[in-house]
This record gives sequence, C-alpha cells and structure tokens, in this order.
Amino acid sequence: MTSKRTSLIQAGMGDDPAYKSVSPPIYLSSTYCFDTISEKGKYDYGRTANPNRNELAEALTKLENGFSCVVTSSGMSAIDLVTNLFKANELIVAPNDCYAGTHRLLSHRAKQGRLKVRFIDFLDANEVSEVFKEKPALLLLESPSNPLLRLVDISEICEFAKSVGALVAVDNTLLSPVRQRPLDLGADFSIHSTTKYLNGHSDVVGGAIISKKQEHGDQLTWWANCLGVTGSPFDSYMTLRGMRTLHPRMDSQESSAMKVAQFLHKHPKITKVYYPGLPSDSGYRLCKKQQSGPGAMISFEVNGGFNEAKKVIESLKVFQLAPSLGGVESLISYPPTMTHGGISETLRCTAGIKESLLRISIGLESSEDIIQDLSASFTLI
Ligand SMILES: Cc1ncc(COP(=O)(O)O)c(C=O)c1O
Repeated sequence: MTSKRTSLIQAGMGDDPAYKSVSPPIYLSSTYCFDTISEKGKYDYGRTANPNRNELAEALTKLENGFSCVVTSSGMSAIDLVTNLFKANELIVAPNDCYAGTHRLLSHRAKQGRLKVRFIDFLDANEVSEVFKEKPALLLLESPSNPLLRLVDISEICEFAKSVGALVAVDNTLLSPVRQRPLDLGADFSIHSTTKYLNGHSDVVGGAIISKKQEHGDQLTWWANCLGVTGSPFDSYMTLRGMRTLHPRMDSQESSAMKVAQFLHKHPKITKVYYPGLPSDSGYRLCKKQQSGPGAMISFEVNGGFNEAKKVIESLKVFQLAPSLGGVESLISYPPTMTHGGISETLRCTAGIKESLLRISIGLESSEDIIQDLSASFTLI
C-alpha cells in the first residue's frame, strides 16, 4: 500500500484528460455544459462541485482516514457547517479555552437561539461527567487548543460520548493529519482551518471537515451546497499545492520548535512554557499517546506583563507580528489583544490567557536564528 506521504505527492498528478499536464489544471469555471436538457457530466455548477475542490477533498480524506471531506471557504465556515447537523435544542459542548473565533461563533449563535451551547473545561472530570448527564448531541474538542496547547484525551472522550449517543468533532488545525488523526481515535469529524499547516504558506484562507461516516459526509455536502460555503477552485488548488510539502515542513518546523521550547524552558526570564513535547508540560503523556509529535506551536509567559511582552515583541527581527500560524515563516502573536482580543477579560481569565502570554508559530528559518532573535529580545526585560 502506498504511504500517505507518497499518495499526497501523487494526488491529482498526471490526471489531466486534455493535455496530460503533470500538475493538475485549475478549473475556474463557475458552470459546466449539459449534454442535453436531462443529461449532464460529472460537474454542473461550481458551488456544488469542482474538480480542484474534489482533488483536495480526496487528499484530505486519505490523510485523515475518513469517508469523505467537505472543503469550505474558511475554518470558521467549517465549524459553522457542522453545527447545521443539530437541532436548536440539542446541546453542543465546547472547551472554554477554544479558539476565540469558535467561542464567538457558538456563543452568538446561542444568543440568537439557533443552537444550545455549554463551554466547559474538558480536563475537569467533574465538569465532563456533569455535562454528560445532559445528553449532549455534539462534543467539539480542540486538541491542542489555541493558544495554550492543552490536550484532551480524545479516545477517552469519544468512548464516553458513544455511551450517551453524542458525536465528537475535533479541531485538528494546530497539528494537521501528519501529527494526529482524530477519526482513528474514535471521533466522527476532523475539522481544519486549512489556512494554517495544510496550506502552509499564509496565502489562502480555507477550511475542511472530514467525516468518518458516509451519512454525515453526505449531510455536510448537502448543507455546504445549500449554504454556499464551499471553497473556491483557486484556493483548493493552492491548498493542495501547499499540502504536498506538509510532511517535510512539519518535520523541520517541529524539530526547530523542540529546540526553541528547550531554550525557553531554561531561560530565567520565562516563567512558563506551553509545549506538549517538553516532559514538564501537562500534555506530555497525552502527546505521546495520541499524537505522532508535539507540532510546531509554542506559547510562553514572560516575567512581567503587558509592558514586558510588548518590549519582546517589538524587538524581534525574525518573527512577524501577525495573528495566524502554521506557515513557512515564524509568527508571533499576543493573544490578549490579537486572537483573543474580541472576548471579555473574564472569559480570557477563565481560559487562562494572561497579559504575559505570547504565542509563537515556528517556521522554516534556521533554529539558531530564531533562538538568537528571542535571546536578544529577552535582554530587554
Ligand atoms: C484552532 C482554530 N480553529 C479554527 C480557526 C478559524 O480558521 P479560519 O481563520 O481559517 O476561519 C482558527 C484560526 O486561527 C484556529 O486557530
């Protein structure tokens, strides 16, 4: 059987029926000719299906060991899409430290009365068993979480969920399928912001949901067409193009991240490092259990607060200050005012996001340059 790495390189290659181009052509057409008024070819309208989107969906389905995949216009539309499988009175449970955009979406939908949501700490066994008594319909996990990289035991939660008939969706954005496959751990859906590691070059916004079962995949395909949230042909082409280097990118970025995390861990100006690859991290055991590596995201707290974080960020030369992650370039972000700036201070406190917290996405630059850059910035605090 061909390895995932090989089949990703081969996805859509040499399939061009017109000119035998090696790289797949881009089909930008929004519509396709019918043969007769009652006969059509494989494609009819671009919102419903498109060859580039299908190639990307097939590649993602293989990587995640799923049944099918829906490619969406963004990670947020992928998360919103999955909520369409549930009635307004069915309970959706999400982590209280989830990505702030997910928190905003679910809490505003709940305010509109369009869904019922409860945010809990999935690491608190009491909270988990209490919420299970309410027979939730969907558990939406984010492991590792953004930005604190907290891990939850996916297979344990999935077993629990099955016993009460709940479905489980895992936001796998921070690792990608080359480091974690939620469907193999018992989840029903794996969700991605493909904007991040999958595309990997910070030049596309996109999303995807991979389903384990045909029934769910078909429902999501129906809703994606109905709502019009499918991804564009060009973005799909770019994402598959970026994904071809996903394995070597992740290997290299992760190896640098490990060196950076070890450097941070020993540094006297750093009071806490969040990186599941460090034995001191609370997620270390789970990382070994369910991930094939810790990934390339690190969060850390500097000695001090807002002023010290600002000094560090403003002096960095290798890192760009920007709110995304998973690209070839190293990025730094300040969660209290950037990714989590839109939620209240109380919610930020509940989620454990302090004024001293910084989040870094390690890119493909030399790890020596990255460490030197951080080291120089720490002399200012
Ligand atoms: C974990 C996680 N999920 C979902 C999203 C939303 O993705 P997008 O920005 O592609 O809509 C993000 C964005 O940062 C994220 O970090």
